[in-house]
Amino acid sequence: MLVYLKIFRYNPEAGRSKPSYDTYNIQADPNDRVLDLLEHVKDYSDGTLSYRRSCAHGVCGSDAMRINGVNALACKVLVKDVGKEITVEPLLGLPILKDMIVDMEPFFESYRSVMPYMINEDVPEDGRERLQSPEERARFDDTTKCILCAACTTSCPSFWSDDQYVGPAAIVNAHRFIFDSRDQAGDERLNILNDREGAWACRTAFNCTAACPREIHVTQAIAEVKQAISTR
Ligand code: FES
Repeated sequence: MLVYLKIFRYNPEAGRSKPSYDTYNIQADPNDRVLDLLEHVKDYSDGTLSYRRSCAHGVCGSDAMRINGVNALACKVLVKDVGKEITVEPLLGLPILKDMIVDMEPFFESYRSVMPYMINEDVPEDGRERLQSPEERARFDDTTKCILCAACTTSCPSFWSDDQYVGPAAIVNAHRFIFDSRDQAGDERLNILNDREGAWACRTAFNCTAACPREIHVTQAIAEVKQAISTR
């Protein structure tokens, strides 16, 4: 099938300081991924086209972008699922550095602010691992699936209007430890998120849940954090 591909371009260092679009007609297989089309353009038409990608299998989270206006991983979206006219643009709400590459540092700064790692000062009695029941493990299973692609945070209207909002991805990663029975810093994380730029900035738009390529129940996780703040 012939695909009409429209790609966002921006590169102030090479005289493209005004955002514009390049267009290509590409012969594609319906089962090709949007990432394959970008690779084709980069390999055969314009080597300066820039985007992030690494695993190409939906694991690393580096190729999140807007595809026909919807946040997604380019390596997971098939041509047959988006049609013959495809527009590819960078994520919204983060500074654009070049083409599809956005500055992820504000995103990771928010992520780091919730202490996304296990905190436990006690040494287990037997000196070995900290045990956990299957039920305790299941409590936070959903939020372990996050790959930090930023699709959720950059689809959120609260984040678009307030870049100080910590964002859905940071709350998801706080959730992963707040509800882990082995962790001892849940209260500290809840204090951090009990803020107008924390969990309370969420307006329950559900965009984050729709955007997550790992199908994490993001809005539900945020609601559980809000409830934990309110009931402790
Ligand atoms: S390239 Fe790794 S998730 Fe798409």
